[in-house]
Amino acid sequence: MSTLRFCQFGAIIALLQCYFVMLSSAQMTHPTEASALQAVRRKLIDTWGNLDDWQKSDPCTSKWTGVICTGVKNDGYLHVGELRLLHRNLSGTLAPELGLLSYATILNFMWNNISGSIPKEIGKMTSLNLLLLSGNQISGSLPDELGNLPNITKFQLDLNQISGPLPRSFANLSTIKHFHMNNNSISGQIPPELGVLPKLIHFLLDNNNLSGYLPPELSKMPKLTVLQLDNNNFNGTEIPESYGNISTLFKLSLRNCNLKGPVPDLSGIRRLLYADLSSNKLTGSIPTNKLSNYITTFNLSNNMLTGPIPSYFSGFPFLQKLLLENNNLSGDVPTNFWQNLALGPAAKLTLDFQNNSLTNISGAISPPANVSIKLQGNPVCQRANELNIVPFCGVPTGDNEAPGNSNDLPEGCKTQSCPSSDNFEYVPESPVPCFCAAPLGIGLRLRSPSISDFLQYKIPFQFWITSNLSLNPYQIVIDSFIWEEGPRLRMYLKIFPPFSKDTSQFNTSDIQHLMDQFATFNLTGDDNFGPYDLLNFTLLGPYKNVLVIPKHQKSGMSRGALLGIVLGAMSLIVAISLVTAFIFYKKHKRFYPKVFKKTSTQKLPFKTESVKEFSFLELEMATNGFDTSKQVGQGGYGKVYKGVLADGTIVAIKRAHAGSLQGQNEFFTEIELLSRLHHRNLVPLVGYCFEQGEQVRCG
Ligand SMILES: *[C@@H]1O[C@H](CO)[C@@H](O)[C@H](O)[C@H]1NC(C)=O
Ligand SMILES: *[C@@H]1O[C@H](CO)[C@@H](O)[C@H](O)[C@H]1NC(C)=O
Ligand SMILES: *[C@@H]1O[C@H](CO)[C@@H](O)[C@H](O)[C@H]1NC(C)=O
Ligand SMILES: *[C@@H]1O[C@H](CO)[C@@H](O)[C@H](O)[C@H]1NC(C)=O
Ligand SMILES: *[C@@H]1O[C@H](CO)[C@@H](O)[C@H](O)[C@H]1NC(C)=O
Ligand SMILES: *[C@@H]1O[C@H](CO)[C@@H](O)[C@H](O)[C@H]1NC(C)=O
Ligand SMILES: *[C@@H]1O[C@H](CO)[C@@H](O)[C@H](O)[C@H]1NC(C)=O
Ligand SMILES: *[C@@H]1O[C@H](CO)[C@@H](O)[C@H](O)[C@H]1NC(C)=O
Ligand SMILES: *[C@@H]1O[C@H](CO)[C@@H](O)[C@H](O)[C@H]1NC(C)=O
Ligand SMILES: *[C@@H]1O[C@H](CO)[C@@H](O)[C@H](O)[C@H]1NC(C)=O
Ligand SMILES: *[C@@H]1O[C@H](CO)[C@@H](O)[C@H](O)[C@H]1NC(C)=O
Ligand SMILES: *[C@@H]1O[C@H](CO)[C@@H](O)[C@H](O)[C@H]1NC(C)=O
Repeated sequence: MSTLRFCQFGAIIALLQCYFVMLSSAQMTHPTEASALQAVRRKLIDTWGNLDDWQKSDPCTSKWTGVICTGVKNDGYLHVGELRLLHRNLSGTLAPELGLLSYATILNFMWNNISGSIPKEIGKMTSLNLLLLSGNQISGSLPDELGNLPNITKFQLDLNQISGPLPRSFANLSTIKHFHMNNNSISGQIPPELGVLPKLIHFLLDNNNLSGYLPPELSKMPKLTVLQLDNNNFNGTEIPESYGNISTLFKLSLRNCNLKGPVPDLSGIRRLLYADLSSNKLTGSIPTNKLSNYITTFNLSNNMLTGPIPSYFSGFPFLQKLLLENNNLSGDVPTNFWQNLALGPAAKLTLDFQNNSLTNISGAISPPANVSIKLQGNPVCQRANELNIVPFCGVPTGDNEAPGNSNDLPEGCKTQSCPSSDNFEYVPESPVPCFCAAPLGIGLRLRSPSISDFLQYKIPFQFWITSNLSLNPYQIVIDSFIWEEGPRLRMYLKIFPPFSKDTSQFNTSDIQHLMDQFATFNLTGDDNFGPYDLLNFTLLGPYKNVLVIPKHQKSGMSRGALLGIVLGAMSLIVAISLVTAFIFYKKHKRFYPKVFKKTSTQKLPFKTESVKEFSFLELEMATNGFDTSKQVGQGGYGKVYKGVLADGTIVAIKRAHAGSLQGQNEFFTEIELLSRLHHRNLVPLVGYCFEQGEQVRCG
């Protein structure tokens, strides 16, 4: 073969001697993972230089941006526990090597510009809990292999361009709790097999291209709380009756899904808060069994419903919106809906009955100011004067909740003593007046809230957040909120440090704790607010330069200490090698051969259990081709490199240079000697390599 011949006659004939010495107590990233991260980096396009520090030597010990490591595991290495790269303006694609991060529990690339498809190798990330890829340009279909993830709890893949079907293999995800895949182009039939998922709580596939029928089997999921499939294209199938039996459900949203048949009886859902079946082709009348007392929103608008409006709607203390417009409902307008409203002065109730066939009204209607009734387009409005309902028959004004914000300066505090230019503000509800402090800014989006009017839930919301984070309620301010299409609720929160005479800022570990809680979706347990997205976590003013040290690394050694150990170990090796090399050089000088015959790798002439033989290729791989960046020492005998073997062992590799080559026997004698040396301050010899250059190059 010509390549071989070229090599044989090539001028490079280097004899290599390699001493392997294992470093005791060195802490480093597992080499497989370190090189996987390099591969990940190569596939990304980082125009903003956000990953510039990914050129530093070791991902965990030199703390690459977004790489959060575990402590040292049984194998003696640090491992990648989380990749947190949200909002880094990254383009490019996801490398298949991500599959090698077998300790990672969180993969977070949200809010970037990543394209390409989801590599099937992600199915090998056996520790993965959260797969977070929202808000990118990811296309292609969902790999079947994702169904193999044994510990996954959340697929957060919304706002991409994922196409193809929902894999049947997802039925194997016995730990999954969240399917958040809205706003993609996922198509085809929802696999009925998914009905076995024992822990799924959120099934959010709205704004996709699903077709076929709605599988009744979904009602068998024992924990399902949100079923949201708006804006899909089912084939004119009915809403399965069994959906009225999902006793755990809070929210059912099937808007604009091309559904026919009757409205199912939802009275069996004990805690139903929100149901939207609007913009379908539903027929028949509204079921007469009373809905759950907790209902806030019931939207049946834009269907073909007939029959009367059931009178039981007057009995709902939390009702915010009853939307029945654009149907063909007949009979009387009910007049006492607002009797039982519970939430005090902030409570607002909207009753929209426009464009139906309501013909009469029994008695007078005089609702309080926070109740709005819309009757336009009903026959009853032809007698508006006579029935005293003119205000309700006019052209209605929009009543979507206006965006809110709260930026009032607390009374009696002086603007100038709180430097807003440095991001300091008075804490509005501070127990001690005029407490001026620097807040953290947090952009959140509630992606499927079970309410349609937020103001009256502001206080419960504040309590929800602060109790999850162990803060005082006054520490959080809802700076602004706005309803978006969906409906979803986007908001900007400010979190202030607790009142203290000594400081008006959070310290770094507090910031880290708060950031961890949000970024790992650790806020749990409120039915009304449902799943949320972290949009941003803004560090301004005094926090601008806070280096956030990932929590899991804190228990590890400091970088300085670590470096010290590594360098110490290295110099020790260099010293030993120098001494032995010198001794052997002196003793056996005259036996130095020029060139070895072309042979296979030499065998050791003595027996040893602990010393292994390596090929030059293995060592090349271990040191990145004896890259100068891996060099840790140099002497008359040659160079010492830090290398990582295929099994992950970190070694020091001594490579003799051409001028100081020993003979075969001398070399082996030295190896034998070194293999017998055991001392607690000496790093043990693990292996050797003895090859000719030509074989090396051609291997
Ligand atoms: C991302 O890009 C925007 C402009 O497109 C810039 O304002 C922002 O600072 C960048 N963020 C990062 C983390 O690079
Ligand atoms: C997003 O990625 C695409 C494809 O890599 C690229 O063409 C485009 O410029 C990127 N956009 C931004 C804002 O980085
Ligand atoms: C899965 O999670 C359980 C408990 O949370 C843990 O004991 C187990 O080691 C995890 N499995 C893998 C492959 O990470
Ligand atoms: C679930 O896993 C089992 C065993 O790993 C496999 O045989 C089966 O085909 C999987 N189910 C689906 C629906 O992929
Ligand atoms: C999701 O898709 C719908 C329909 O295309 C669109 O109206 C909505 O704005 C999208 N949501 C987001 C957050 O972009
Ligand atoms: C949705 O699926 C239909 C086939 O069921 C296909 O014709 C259509 O192009 C798809 N639309 C999108 C936006 O992917
Ligand atoms: C919808 O699709 C399913 C499965 O493809 C089929 O069994 C059913 O008859 C279809 N329904 C209608 C109304 O076309
Ligand atoms: C719903 O549950 C009730 C009682 O638990 C049962 O009688 C009824 O048959 C169920 N309906 C469906 C469609 O499963
Ligand atoms: C009710 O449904 C209609 C039609 O689908 C929609 O336009 C409206 O936004 C919905 N209202 C609420 C509060 O969800
Ligand atoms: C509405 O229902 C009435 C009977 O209550 C019927 O006469 C009328 O044709 C229906 N209108 C439409 C548009 O379906
Ligand atoms: C964070 O998100 C909020 C809400 O979406 C937005 O108002 C704010 O401008 C964002 N801040 C940054 C720095 O992106
Ligand atoms: C999440 O919350 C649990 C209990 O509330 C806590 O033990 C855990 O440390 C939290 N996780 C993070 C990343 O803060």
